[in-house]
Amino acid sequence: MNQDAMKKAAAMAALEYVEGGIIGIGTGSTANHFIDLLAGMKDKIDATVASSVASAQRLQRHGLRVLDLNEAGTLSLYVDGADESNPALQLIKGGGGALTREKIVASASEKFVCIADKTKLVPVLGAFPLPVEVIPMAQAVVARQLIALGGTPVLRTGYTTDNGNVILDVSGLHIGDPVGLESELNHIPGIVTNGLFALRPADALLMGTADGVEAR
Ligand code: A5P
Repeated sequence: MNQDAMKKAAAMAALEYVEGGIIGIGTGSTANHFIDLLAGMKDKIDATVASSVASAQRLQRHGLRVLDLNEAGTLSLYVDGADESNPALQLIKGGGGALTREKIVASASEKFVCIADKTKLVPVLGAFPLPVEVIPMAQAVVARQLIALGGTPVLRTGYTTDNGNVILDVSGLHIGDPVGLESELNHIPGIVTNGLFALRPADALLMGTADGVEAR
């Protein structure tokens, strides 16, 4: 089974968690599989809230109703992919650049189900460069502080987030304390959001493997 088939299997398993109400939808290739599959059961849900313009457009193409989060209240479920997960279901996200809206929609949801292929599970977070969304005028000052923390920030060239900001992808960080690092980065002026989802980890991880979907 190839990586994409494992992503699709995880997305299919997440349909079991859909019990109606308003569903938060993530961003990326695994979330896209979930959107395509959710389209087959659109009568079961009231509406969706998307974590990116791209996901909103895909949902709308399928005829699924997309609400602004301000109109939606609390969401019953959030389903999204990840770039890495550790065994505590703390994640690195933002490879697709949607980390800020993803973190907001996750925070508005009662349950966060992460869907991924088995390559995303790692013992310690940090091999995948940590995406950090930054206000453009603060790019240089934030980069210096990330270097002081031991990281190597690289500007994602030619990319602007849905919020009009830039992304620094930070490699070389030792993430032995994901909650501590997420909190520390949250306090650096100019950082909008960092891609660590540790203060609010996933509640479940559905991981596609060659032998089926493993739930954690
Ligand atoms: C989007 O910004 C990311 O957080 C994605 O959830 C993450 O990059 C996973 O992407 P894939 O599902 O494409 O692997």
